[in-house]
Amino acid sequence: RERINIAIDGPAGAGKSTVARSVAETLGYIYIDTGAMYRAVTLSALRSGISPDDRMQLSQHAESIEISLQPSSAGQVVLLNGCDVTIDIRSREVTLNVSQVSAVERVRVRLVAMQRQLARGKGVVMDGRDIGSHVLPDAELKVYLTATVEERALRRFKELDGRDGITLEQLEHEIAERDRKDQEREISPLVCAPDAIVLDSTSMTIEQVADNIVNLSRTKL
Ligand code: C5P
Repeated sequence: RERINIAIDGPAGAGKSTVARSVAETLGYIYIDTGAMYRAVTLSALRSGISPDDRMQLSQHAESIEISLQPSSAGQVVLLNGCDVTIDIRSREVTLNVSQVSAVERVRVRLVAMQRQLARGKGVVMDGRDIGSHVLPDAELKVYLTATVEERALRRFKELDGRDGITLEQLEHEIAERDRKDQEREISPLVCAPDAIVLDSTSMTIEQVADNIVNLSRTKL
């Protein structure tokens, strides 16, 4: 049976990962969360005491570590030099520093090469910021998933459920700030690819968004 590649891009907290995982499960495709790869580099650099503004050290560090993604029943396990860091990459410290690390050219070159390799056999649902615009420009289906910043902050706030002791206002500010950095960086910033289908999930459920994408994928086969 023919398989396609599906790129899902958009700002932080738009529901990309949950939607991508669900679409992959329905279609029997492989789900790849590229944000997790940038998070793993960030975690590793922070643990090694590298400053997020030291581009040279970040570049060398990114080239010296081993990152791998393994499909699991929960979606995806992230290994850093063979150790499971799936939970650790979601920390607030990583979230606050990841945009600066992911703006470094050599970090991106390394991870993009891995991402293209993973998608070469088709049948992949990949979520990120630059998948449709840069990583997989030939993806058969490109979706740009968005929602208002208020809605995205509210969703994340409910998800955190008091952990991190962060207020809704603070969360909204941090999400907006991460989007700004991702949109303003020089190398493959967050943009909506010209041939992407825009889905605004503000008043949609995850299931509705996922169904929509599955239906769109069937028109491409
Ligand atoms: O998707 P997630 O929010 O986990 O991504 C974390 C960060 O990784 C983003 O804010 C962005 O800085 C970076 N990223 C990127 N390119 C991608 C995926 C993520 O620059 N394809």
